[in-house]
Amino acid sequence: MISSLSLSLSLSWLGSCLQYKWQKTLGNYIAVAGSVKIFDRHGQRKNELNLPGRCVGMDWDKDGDILAVISDKSSSVYLWDANVNKTSQIDSGMRDQMSFILWSKAGPLLAVGTNKGNLLIYNQQTSRKIPVLGKHTKRITCGCWSSQNLLALGSEDCSVTISNQEGDTVRQTSVRSDPADVQFSVMKTDERSSPGESTVSVAVGKKTLFLFNLNDPDNPIELAFQQRYGHIISYRWYGDGYILIGFSQGYFVVISTHIREIGQELFQAHNHKDSLTSVAISSALNKAASCGDNSIKIHDLSELKEMDAIVNLEDETQGLDQLSWTDDGQLLAVSTQRGALHVFLTRLPILGHSCGTRLAYLTSLLEVTVSNRVEGEAPVAVAVEVEPNFIAVGPYHVAVGMNNRAWFYALGDSGVERLKDMEYLGTIATMCLNSEYAAALFEGKVQLHMVRRGSGVIVCVSMSPPRVV
Ligand SMILES: *[C@@H]1O[C@H](CO)[C@@H](O)[C@H](O)[C@H]1NC(C)=O
Repeated sequence: MISSLSLSLSLSWLGSCLQYKWQKTLGNYIAVAGSVKIFDRHGQRKNELNLPGRCVGMDWDKDGDILAVISDKSSSVYLWDANVNKTSQIDSGMRDQMSFILWSKAGPLLAVGTNKGNLLIYNQQTSRKIPVLGKHTKRITCGCWSSQNLLALGSEDCSVTISNQEGDTVRQTSVRSDPADVQFSVMKTDERSSPGESTVSVAVGKKTLFLFNLNDPDNPIELAFQQRYGHIISYRWYGDGYILIGFSQGYFVVISTHIREIGQELFQAHNHKDSLTSVAISSALNKAASCGDNSIKIHDLSELKEMDAIVNLEDETQGLDQLSWTDDGQLLAVSTQRGALHVFLTRLPILGHSCGTRLAYLTSLLEVTVSNRVEGEAPVAVAVEVEPNFIAVGPYHVAVGMNNRAWFYALGDSGVERLKDMEYLGTIATMCLNSEYAAALFEGKVQLHMVRRGSGVIVCVSMSPPRVV
């Protein structure tokens, strides 16, 4: 069960739908376009990229170090480095407008596609650029890198190409209508199939799902669905060859691609009465979510029938738009048709400490609750300044910290008082508090200091950790 699904952040722009992307891997930042603004996960603005024109695409590299952005009025690719908060530009050399941008999930390669079907592959490490003119004859609209660095691209010329990282086409297939949402995956076949992602899937004309096996290119499979479902909004592969598909009329459908039951529906739910606008999967949580109308519905992937959580956003009468989870599953963002972005906490690290019968535990990313049920004390919520990786509670104080820093709070009858923060000479492994002192264990040493008094009167002691209990 998702125990905590509290709203942790809401941002609002008036107007229309938003495009946004979570920082990959770390999930510390979220980039939001129009002009591209970057916020940290608590909603603090970190930077804004002044683009000429409108953002038409953006993507974070696999480690979340670099955000790449393209706009409709520039032939440059803008790169924002999250580690140093700096923006740089590279000249794409493309004469026509860029339409598509995507980082590889296996290396420092960036693919950029254009309105006329040209492609650029840029290597961020070597700065090498490989322009490929005429990869397609019309706009490149979608694409995907495989974990072996093959690049699948879909275009309005009704074809899908598979290229290697040098830009050479290794496979090509035509489809009946506009391709969308190209993805690589592993499809289970009874034959001994070669390892790796050898199946390319693509939604064709929003109606069918086209599965193209690179090792068996002459026998693609095309799956059609019940008309009452409406058109395909988007789909996600998960687990051992399953596909979750969201349909415009509110349907949430799971099919199998196992060869003996290919296309068979394993699960179907009418999650949203009028319309569905997005589906998302978190492999970290083993959950799937859909959104539509003004609600989000979350299912457990191992027990699809069980609805894990339903979130109704009563104020969003114009409806929701796109859902997206951070890679660690902690935060789920949803944008809305009127241009707001809400972020929900879907998983909280379990973190706590006790002192006698008093407990202190994390209740939100920036909130620790101190309670003592045995003594009949009412729980107190302490707003803390960092997302802690340790908590210490004593008879009169609570401390939180991360790395080599700790913040101290006094728990008084008249409320919580912030006392001070301290830096230590190493990463703190644990901390204990008694009524007056704090003991911080780091790198085999213990530093003992008074909780209240200033740092002028620190008593420094060292002893081997096993003797400190
Ligand atoms: C990041 O850099 C921009 C200028 O490029 C500056 O305005 C902003 O304050 C910086 N943000 C942080 C959090 O350092």
